[in-house]
Amino acid sequence: MSTPISSVFDLEARARKRLPAVIFDYVHGGAGMELTLQRNQDDLCALALRQHDMRDVSHRQMSVKMVGEPATIPLAIGPTGLAGLTWANGEVEAAKAAEHFGVPFCLSTMSICSIEDVADATSRPFWFQLYLMKEHKVNESLIRRAHEAGCSALILTLDLHVQGKRWADARNGLSVPPRLTLHNTWDILSHPRWLVGMARSKRRTFGNLQGELKQAKNLSALTQWIESQFDPSFDLDTVKWVRKIWDRKLILKGIMHVDDARLAVDIGADAIIVSNHGGRQLDGAPSSISVLPEIVEAVGDRIEVFFDGGIRTGGDIVKAMGYGARACLSGRAWLYGLAAEGMDGVLCALHLLEQELSDCMALTGLDDVAHIDPGVVTAQPALRP
Ligand code: FNR
Repeated sequence: MSTPISSVFDLEARARKRLPAVIFDYVHGGAGMELTLQRNQDDLCALALRQHDMRDVSHRQMSVKMVGEPATIPLAIGPTGLAGLTWANGEVEAAKAAEHFGVPFCLSTMSICSIEDVADATSRPFWFQLYLMKEHKVNESLIRRAHEAGCSALILTLDLHVQGKRWADARNGLSVPPRLTLHNTWDILSHPRWLVGMARSKRRTFGNLQGELKQAKNLSALTQWIESQFDPSFDLDTVKWVRKIWDRKLILKGIMHVDDARLAVDIGADAIIVSNHGGRQLDGAPSSISVLPEIVEAVGDRIEVFFDGGIRTGGDIVKAMGYGARACLSGRAWLYGLAAEGMDGVLCALHLLEQELSDCMALTGLDDVAHIDPGVVTAQPALRP
């Protein structure tokens, strides 16, 4: 790497340089006015960590299990669509990084590399994230393929009945695969490293949906396409149906309400992810950190509670765990790494978070992530007006 990278924010800056704006904006942005996107990070920043001294913290234990899967640090690589448009064969590169580092990797339904591509390239079981489509047989087929590929957990995303309107994507005319238009030709041609990478990519459109959906090619208007294929009618019965046919670990993602958290327990899910989709869906929703304590309180230890939304430093992981999360998932932090430097960049993001987590534990007097409790976090007035 040319200039030193000292934080995820440096990876973000490098990703911004390397990617055409149409792709960077897709990764970086959120829905509408981006109020929720902003809140996710602001509310984590507004929490303070209690310094605690006079304890031996020379050895710090950071590993956990997430639905039975060992994780070197309490973090999984969360599902993100189109990662393979930020780097050639991006999902495969990220899965290899996760395997190398020792954290779970989750492949999105909307990924460029397919379930089978990732299974062929890795030996550690990975997780598959499912969006429910209108065509029931497509859902069945995706679940069957994930099962056959040995996926150990299914993450069912609940918060995409309609797609949050991301204004930048609409403005930029985001399409899959990206096409040269009058508006973006200069943007794309002035990023030759990215262009060359894409030219040697094995795939440039949705790997999981080829052969499943007739219109999975030439998706010029992504949002309209998603809305024509995704099922806005799915409800508790559909979730129960998934629970019935998927006999391995089931994780429900997009829980922001205590009632939904309790339902997840009732239907026998193994874990929930407190998440507002990284501020990409309901603009105006509260930050996910602000609802985490009430959800943890509602479900107790009847289900594993994971957290995502705004994790950029190891200190953020401590804050989420202080508020009761068992572990976290990362979206943009690892994607910035991937977009900046491929597999090395994902590893870099993971190592940075690990080091920061370790330092934060030392300075808060913790020698084991299992000892992180509410006492480590204290609310402070907001940092920004
Ligand atoms: C996402 N997210 C997401 N979630 C999901 O269940 N399926 C998906 O395909 C995607 N796609 C996706 C693309 C991009 C570019 C981003 C940034 C996010 C949401 C993701 O899993 C996670 O909830 C958020 O990214 C967490 O917030 P942070 O870590 O990005 O702040």
